[in-house]
Amino acid sequence: MSNTGKIINKISSYMPRLGLSALILCLASGVVLVFYYRPMGNVFQNVEEITTLVPYGWFFRQLHYGAGQLFVILMLLHTLDHFLRKRYRTYLFKEWMLLIFSLSLCFFVLFTGFVLKGDKEGYFAGQIFMNILEAIPSIEGSVSKLFIVPGDSFFFLPYLYHCFFLPLLIIYLIRDHIREWFPNRRFLLIGTVGLFLYAIFVRPAIDIPPEASVAVVQGPWFFLGIQTLLKLLPVLLAGLIIPGLFVGCLLILPVIRTASPVISLKGRIAYMGGNGLHYLLVVALCLYGFLTLRAAIWGP
Ligand code: HEM
Repeated sequence: MSNTGKIINKISSYMPRLGLSALILCLASGVVLVFYYRPMGNVFQNVEEITTLVPYGWFFRQLHYGAGQLFVILMLLHTLDHFLRKRYRTYLFKEWMLLIFSLSLCFFVLFTGFVLKGDKEGYFAGQIFMNILEAIPSIEGSVSKLFIVPGDSFFFLPYLYHCFFLPLLIIYLIRDHIREWFPNRRFLLIGTVGLFLYAIFVRPAIDIPPEASVAVVQGPWFFLGIQTLLKLLPVLLAGLIIPGLFVGCLLILPVIRTASPVISLKGRIAYMGGNGLHYLLVVALCLYGFLTLRAAIWGP
């Protein structure tokens, strides 16, 4: 194997271990925050009090933010690594499905965390989420009521999902995929030192009060592409059908395989179909990346 190949292999084996260290730090700092966080009443003021009045509150918030982002970004890169190397060909459908589903849940945890800040951006992201869910044909918005409700309890369900239900579900789903739950001490040390330095030296973004008037309100970075699509297309299409189709196509990748050899007609069709879908997904990812970048620079 060439030197570049060896380096790439090393990076891809380091990513999930570092990701696990970030998850441990994220859960630990989350447990500290949950003692002070109140999902009812004036949530923005409560979060500001955690930052300014609670001893080291600013540190735990920034540590939690950095560790959460790092964990999800590394999980995304880890899954992309499997995808680009077409490793799903060796996976059972169930294994691949659990990985993709867990990654989607990771993004949902990040999203609910963004809402929990209770500032203008968090409140706005929660509203968009509610509008998307309300666009699902159902009896009196019953789907949206399972995730978020307007009024005084606006933050309560996202809080339950973020702090309890989703982290437990993610850990449960990836349990068979993880070989070592406690990463090698070296990774834990690198992760801890790196994230502590980040929390101490990197100033957090300023939380905008919900009543302030601002020209553009942006959602979290991974949502910017959808936010742009929402301006161009109907809510159901941009918020659910397109992302759902993308995840659906990703899920069926390991299924497009036949027992027939590639030289047979059936085998050749399956091979070409699988390859076609793979490159279609690569193009879709690039387009989404472009939309995200465009929205980050010029606004959604
Ligand atoms: C996979 C696990 C988790 C991830 C990726 C994650 C990520 C995040 C992110 C990105 C934020 C927004 C922070 C900000 O912008 O300032 C947040 C907020 C929050 N998280 Fe988590 N979190 C996770 C698990 C937990 C757990 C297990 C708890 C509690 C037991 C928790 C408690 C909180 C609280 C109370 C907030 C709101 C306070 C704040 O904004 O600083 N999180 N989380």
